[in-house]
Amino acid sequence: MYNSGLFKFRKIGSQSKEHLGYLTPIEAHQEIPFEVKRLYYIYGVGEEEIRGKHSHKKLHQVLICVNGSVDIKLENFFGDETYTLNDPSVGLYVGPDNWREMSNFKDNAVLLVLASEEYDPDDYIRDYDEFIQHNQKKYGGLK
Ligand code: TYD
Repeated sequence: MYNSGLFKFRKIGSQSKEHLGYLTPIEAHQEIPFEVKRLYYIYGVGEEEIRGKHSHKKLHQVLICVNGSVDIKLENFFGDETYTLNDPSVGLYVGPDNWREMSNFKDNAVLLVLASEEYDPDDYIRDYDEFIQHNQKKYGGLK
């Protein structure tokens, strides 16, 4: 989908030695399409809860579910898509102007987020109608 997408990190390990587990490295300027200035993680979320419900004007992010499973619904001017993240070697890139809702946090889900900017409350759009208007103004001419 426009301005978002899944990609696969390296998963170092061997199926013949599965009990040794795996290692996924993420290096600056290699695996991530922006400079990471901040990371945070979301955890302890009840299965019935929905987080997010906002978009960002400038922020680029990569979401990685490092434990458990979580659904990420993205919506932008061009469509919407729901991704189930349940593999620590998979990242979901989320660019600006995507409304996101995180739900179905299962099996002690831990969602790690890598972000391109320091925390800035002014970068958020938390009102859905404002999000629609913002995207109409920005992308309306492209349709
Ligand atoms: P928020 O981004 O609204 O979380 P979610 O979309 O998952 O519900 O952030 C929740 C709270 O945490 C809010 O008060 C802002 C604060 N916060 C920070 O202080 N620094 C950060 O880097 C982030 C992401 C949030």
